[in-house]
Formats: sequence, structure tokens, C-alpha cells
Amino acid sequence: MESSDEPEPTGVMVIEPMGNAGPFLVRAAARLGLRLHAATDERVHAGYDPWLTGALAGVCLTELADTARALDDMEAYCRAHRITGVAVCWELLTPLAALLAARLGLPGNDPLRAKAARNKITMAEAFRAAGVPVPAQVVVATAEQAHDVAASGRLGWPLVVKPAEQGGSWGVSVLAGPDGLDAAVAAAGRFTRAEPHGLPLDSRVLLQSYVAGEEFSADTVVHDGVPYPLPVVRKDTTAGRYRVETGHSCPAGLDPGTVRAVQDTAARAAVAVGVRNGIAHTEVKIPPGGGPVVIETGARLPGDDICEIVEAATGVSEAAAYLRVVTGRPPRIAPTRDAAAALRFLLPDRAGVVEEVVIPEVPGTHSRIDIRPGQRVPEPADSSGRVGHVMAHAACVDEARRLAGQVIADSRVKVS
Ligand SMILES: Nc1ncnc2c1ncn2[C@@H]1O[C@H](COP(=O)(O)OP(=O)(O)O)[C@@H](O)[C@H]1O
Ligand SMILES: [Mg+2]
Repeated sequence: MESSDEPEPTGVMVIEPMGNAGPFLVRAAARLGLRLHAATDERVHAGYDPWLTGALAGVCLTELADTARALDDMEAYCRAHRITGVAVCWELLTPLAALLAARLGLPGNDPLRAKAARNKITMAEAFRAAGVPVPAQVVVATAEQAHDVAASGRLGWPLVVKPAEQGGSWGVSVLAGPDGLDAAVAAAGRFTRAEPHGLPLDSRVLLQSYVAGEEFSADTVVHDGVPYPLPVVRKDTTAGRYRVETGHSCPAGLDPGTVRAVQDTAARAAVAVGVRNGIAHTEVKIPPGGGPVVIETGARLPGDDICEIVEAATGVSEAAAYLRVVTGRPPRIAPTRDAAAALRFLLPDRAGVVEEVVIPEVPGTHSRIDIRPGQRVPEPADSSGRVGHVMAHAACVDEARRLAGQVIADSRVKVS
């Protein structure tokens, strides 16, 4: 027990730690000897799992959708609790984190550019200004405008339709021709608030030219404006109208020159959206014969257990690197391990009520079921259609991918 006259150990304020990166932050904080505090809404806090409640040194209850109030509440809390860094898990909350860090005089991102790390319209402007390669894009307000842009041929086919502010492939469509454009614009424009905090969203719709080729993600940790590249991860997705991630693996299976090109592009993207002391998760595609083109970046840790994939493959803890830079210390990014990991999602064939899910237990793998019998699963059009996943750790990436693929092939998901 601490005696009451000893100062409280320093802590990091995580604006909404309930999310995929949360457990990785908790483990990294324990390793670094940092206490984690959370800022969240009362209703969201009531639903926290015991692993999270037990890991927190304190909670600032506020209303994250009300920026002015949240900043006041969090500032007061942080000043009272020896908070030396501000972190975040959710992309939509990254501008709030930048504002809070600036108010407290703590290391953080540029609050004036932080919106570019969540809003794909502002992001494209920031990328273009910085010379970061991106697909051509047009903002539309109606399906009629979308038809006009499509008919003009300036973006070509396939055409990508997506929301200005969303994630998890929600509302993203890839169209081969004008059929279905009305439905795609409606699907992309339907998001006005993001649950569970009720954050208001920019519901404008983007049309983008389609970037062909393989897809990768690369994270960048930034300390005092200097970007440090993290390992590149290969992304597998479905191929049709809906691009849902089906898996991730590391190492990415690219030659060293291409790895560097992806890391450099990701680093430029991170800096372009104002990441100065933080981390960015950047997605790129590499068209045949070309260099990496950025699909998006977010000023946050990756989701989809990519933190585990990267650490299992290389020994690098992205969560620890992030906590170090938000508390003003240089990150540790040198690989300490030469192994591999692969994750595959279990997707149903169609929407329905899940009747049965079986993921076999295979040595070298571990799995999780997210949607259980009796629950409804939507059509696998976005990340909400994932029934579960399997993670494989192995000595080389081909073996990790083979193991994860084998487990998925031997899994059963029956919907009615
Ligand atoms: N311009 C594009 N060209 C090719 N594929 C794209 C393009 N934009 C999006 N995609 C595909 O759709 C997926 C989801 O789009 P993204 O912009 O990353 O939205 P989200 O924020 O929902 O992840 C991407 O991972 C990629 O596979
Ligand atoms: Mg994405």
C-alpha cells in the first residue's frame, strides 16, 4: 500500500479504453509501470468487462460527445491525478485527445490538423498538400450527383463509395458499374452518429477511384515529430462489392525495398495528418508496377488484434511504443524476434441467426467466438459480420497463414 504522503505514480489518461487495443494498452502500461485512467460515458462504463475495470486506476465520467464538457471534465481530472500522457483507442476520439494533450501541455498531436486523422475528406486534403499518394476523390451530397460524377468518367470503374467518417468497412461499396450506385450512396450516407458515445458524424459521401493490387497496413509511432516505422502487415479482404477484412499476417511477405516504401509512405501519411507524439495506423494498396497508395490513416493503435500479430512476429509492442511517446519518451521499435503470426476471421455465408459455431482447437493457434448461437449475424458486408477469429503463431509466415487457413477451413458456422 502507498502511504498517503507519497505521491501517486504517474498515469496515462486513455480516452475510451474499451476497444480492441485496450488489452494491449493495459499490458504495456503494467510493463512500463504506468497507471491507466479512463475517460468515458457513464452508460458505456456500466458495460465495461471486469478485465478493464480491474486494470484502471481511476475513471473520469463525462460525456465524450460533448467536446467542451469532456475537455473541462478531463482537464480537471488529469490535473488532480498526476496524468503525464493522453492516449486513445478510437479513431473518432483522436481529435479530442489532441485537444486535451494541448490543454494540459502534454505530448500529443497537432490539434489543428487532428480532424484529418478521422475525416476522410479533410484527410485527402492533408495528403494532397503533403504529396502523399492517394486515389482521386469527389465528395457528393446526393445519388444524382454521384451518377453525374460516375458518368463523367473522371474516377473510372470500379468506383469506391464510402462514408466520410466511419470504420470497419461500414458503408463501403466497390461498384463495377452504375447499377447499385443509389443503394451504395444511401448505405454510405446513413451514419449520423457513432455508438456507443453518440459522437456526431460527417455524413457526406465520397466517391473514389479504385486502387488495384495487394493491401497492407503499416503503423508509425511518432516522437517529437520524428516518425519511427513499425512492421508491415499483409491484409486479406473479400473481393466483391463489400471489402471486408478476412485476415492479417506478419511479416508481410514483401521484399525489403517494398517494405521500406510502405513504411515511408505510412510515415508521411502520419505526419501529414498532424501526428507528432502518437501512433498512426495506415492502410495502403500497391497497384501492380506502382508504389504504395494510401487508402486511409488513423491516429490510433490498430484494431483486429494487429498489436498481437506484430508482437508475436517481431517482439515489438506497439502499445508500449505508443505509451512511451505520449509520455514524452522515445519509442523502442527494434525487432527482438524473427517469427510470424496470422489471423483469419470466420465469416458466415449470409445473414441469419447463428445455429452452430465450431472452431477446432489446433496446436499453435487460439481462437475466439464473438457471435454465439441464438444471436443474429448480418451479411458479411462489414466487420460486424465476423462470427469469430483464429490466430496462429509460427516460425514463418507461410506456416502461420497455412495454420490459420486450415482452422478456418475446418470451422463450421451454420445460420438459419
Ligand atoms: N479507393 C480504394 N481503392 C481500392 N480499395 C478500396 C478503396 N477504398 C477502400 N477500399 C477497400 O475498402 C476497405 C475499407 O475502406 P476504408 O477506406 O479503409 O474504410 P474503413 O475506414 O471503414 O476501414 C479497404 O480496406 C479496401 O480494401
Ligand atoms: Mg480501413
